[in-house]
Amino acid sequence: MTTLLQIKSSLFSDGGQSSRLADRFVAAWRQASPGGHVIVRDLAREPVPHLDAERFGAFAAAAAQRTPLQQAVVAQSDALIAELRRADVVVLGVPMYNFGVPSTLKAYFDHVARAGVTFRYTDKGPVGLLTGKKVYVFAARGGRYAGTPRDTQTDFLRDFLAFIGMTDVEFVYAEGLAIGEAARDEALAAAHAAIERFAAAEEMAA
Ligand SMILES: Cc1cc2nc3c(=O)[nH]c(=O)nc-3n(C[C@H](O)[C@H](O)[C@H](O)COP(=O)(O)O)c2cc1C
Repeated sequence: MTTLLQIKSSLFSDGGQSSRLADRFVAAWRQASPGGHVIVRDLAREPVPHLDAERFGAFAAAAAQRTPLQQAVVAQSDALIAELRRADVVVLGVPMYNFGVPSTLKAYFDHVARAGVTFRYTDKGPVGLLTGKKVYVFAARGGRYAGTPRDTQTDFLRDFLAFIGMTDVEFVYAEGLAIGEAARDEALAAAHAAIERFAAAEEMAA
């Protein structure tokens, strides 16, 4: 059975433009993949706490040495990683907030980047361990940044995902959403067309 993991990071949850674009793709994917299984992780509804020294220490500590909080931290991280490992397709809804990815998404990343679990260091550099997955990113932005040095998200997401083994990544952008009604409608229409193209490719692969 094929599994899709959808991660939402809009602070508006289902109402965010990034969530709506991702939902549109997931609805098409469901049609193309009868019997497919969808897991939804909404980081606005269930935020992952910020990483701090005690939390980070939990990952390195021997199981018997962990405090009760650290045991809970590792259990939560393990559950998040199990979800990712199980997924064949990962769908990320990513708004631009204050020139970066939402802090909820960064906190989530900080809990799934685990040495020896999702990546390992070798003498040739780091090797990602969550391989063989297809990732789709639905990026919603008030301004326009794609293809310019002010796009702080695309390279960061590509680098982070590759670090844990996910190198097959497609981006769909809806940009200029805050510029005006005409710009927003045009951006959403272009994003919807891209979603249809990717959904058709998934249908052919199914
Ligand atoms: C707190 C906040 C900060 C934002 N910062 C930026 C920004 O730095 N650059 C930008 O282009 N748009 C910015 N926007 C506009 C959002 O990118 C835009 O509304 C987008 O639709 C957000 O995605 P969402 O609807 O999925 O939450 C910001 C919006 C909010 C609510």
